[in-house]
Amino acid sequence: MAFNHKNLIDITEYSSDDIMMILKTASRFKSVNERRIKKVPTLRGYTIVNMFNEPSTRTRSSFEIAEKRLSCDTLNFGGSSSSTVKGESLVDTIQTLCSYKIDMIIVRDKHAGVPRQIADTCDIKVIDAGDGKHQHPTQALLDLYTIWEHKGSFENLNVGIVGDIRHSRVCGSLVPALKIMGCNVTLIAPATLMPARPDIMGVDRTTAKLDEVLPDLDVVYMLRIQRERLEDAPFPSLREYSMLYGLNKEREHLMKPDAIICHPGPINRGVELDSYMADNPQRSVILDQVYSGILVRMAAMYLLLGGVDDGISA
Ligand code: CP
Repeated sequence: MAFNHKNLIDITEYSSDDIMMILKTASRFKSVNERRIKKVPTLRGYTIVNMFNEPSTRTRSSFEIAEKRLSCDTLNFGGSSSSTVKGESLVDTIQTLCSYKIDMIIVRDKHAGVPRQIADTCDIKVIDAGDGKHQHPTQALLDLYTIWEHKGSFENLNVGIVGDIRHSRVCGSLVPALKIMGCNVTLIAPATLMPARPDIMGVDRTTAKLDEVLPDLDVVYMLRIQRERLEDAPFPSLREYSMLYGLNKEREHLMKPDAIICHPGPINRGVELDSYMADNPQRSVILDQVYSGILVRMAAMYLLLGGVDDGISA
């Protein structure tokens, strides 16, 4: 099957077959990552720019490791060290980088829409590494990969997403990705953190009562309370939020015996998750998500740059 995408900006442009091709390709890259020499010549001769204009630990480091393991040349760029601080526009910056005949830009920016603007400016492949409150498609792919590894399939899996849905770019990609793959999605949040129109996200149900739905869930996806994006005070205190929506040892008896816990990171320990749940070896798959980030990012870069799903060279 052909992979006919130029960019990874909006997960809703991808079909379930496209997503499965990325997940299966990621699975093949797992063997590369588990041997002593974790490197293949697959993208030798390609140049990729990592333009991170906003802080990142997981996304940035896993893209950089993925690029090294695929043997491509990279440039790390952005933030306060670029000429944007001297007033250079995004379009001028991008045209400058594209003059170097680079092949792909990975971009994180606080403004929604920047990845699309780059794709419209230059004939170059673009991966959105998180734009404002809009999307974070490689996060959704690594979440799907982790769920697939632990649950074996997506059809009719009950996934609950808990927390700051309104401000979450993770949700902007994860909710449509879960629906594309056939999951049942429940959004759980106080009204002040629920999007204005959850119905248009295509979710199956919304509720403010975590304890009522927790017993149904196969996957409990906890979101970070994004203190940096909370313009108004959406709940009285972090302590009250944690009492009503925190996943903690006291709530574990409400969960299915085989329910797993996901979180995109970084975690606010003691707010959305206590350490007992965050580090729970039977339930928490958070570090598996981090590892999956390398695999799906290798797969996405490989397929976007013309790789075929059975052509990974050793
Ligand atoms: N999940 C995520 O995007 O984490 P970083 O901000 O550390 O990249």
